[in-house]
Amino acid sequence: MTIDILTLFPNMFNGILNESIIKRAINNNLVKINVIDFRAYSTFSNMQVDDTPYGGGKGMVLMCEPVVRAIEDLKKEDSLVILTCPQGKTYNEKMAFDLKKYKHLIIVCGHYEGYDERIRNFVDLEVSIGDYILTGGEIPAMVIVDSVTRLLEGVIKEESYFEDSFTNNLLDYPTYTKPRDFRGLLVPEVLLSGNHEKIKEYRLQEQIKRTKERRPDLLKRENEK
Ligand SMILES: C[S@@+](CC[C@H](N)C(=O)[O-])C[C@H]1O[C@@H](n2cnc3c(N)ncnc32)[C@H](O)[C@@H]1O
Repeated sequence: MTIDILTLFPNMFNGILNESIIKRAINNNLVKINVIDFRAYSTFSNMQVDDTPYGGGKGMVLMCEPVVRAIEDLKKEDSLVILTCPQGKTYNEKMAFDLKKYKHLIIVCGHYEGYDERIRNFVDLEVSIGDYILTGGEIPAMVIVDSVTRLLEGVIKEESYFEDSFTNNLLDYPTYTKPRDFRGLLVPEVLLSGNHEKIKEYRLQEQIKRTKERRPDLLKRENEK
């Protein structure tokens, strides 16, 4: 998969692309991630990309020209263009599974007051990462990059993400590590039994119990994958 990220602040991505699992996925050619400053697509000599809103009001608005020129330059037949936007569809694990099927994602990061409304005509999907406002689309883009990349073949073992929260509409089971006794808080006996069948059953029951207690809404959803 190739992911092109259009942003005014490319340096914000230095951390996520140069650490841990995402870095390894890039180095192993499992994903290619290009961070592109869409100022390069400005038609102004001073690289201007935003202007004041028609009708008055607060903040600066990203102009159509640089954003649409960038999309048109990068877009291929099998690309999916995503606009990060608080008014978009709320992101979840099912969407991450859907996105992993594409060969090419283009993610547009807004900033300031948002976009010229007409930009929406040039994107395939608008994504929100939750009901709160961030200063820009860079963190939402990182959320998408991270959650999709970990699902790509070869990045992590399939069995690890199949038991993670939200896959199969269940929360993950509780996990423990050494010591067995931490200030009187004990590791459940079954996990020390060595009986793999029993452990499997215990974990599934814990997943169901937790989900009922914490996120009963998940149990009513269609299968996530
Ligand atoms: C300050 S926000 C603009 C908010 C816009 N005026 C509104 O109220 O809908 C600037 C940019 O940050 C990004 N952004 C902010 N919150 C977001 C969220 N919850 N999900 C996705 N993108 C978000 C978008 O790219 C947005 O264009």
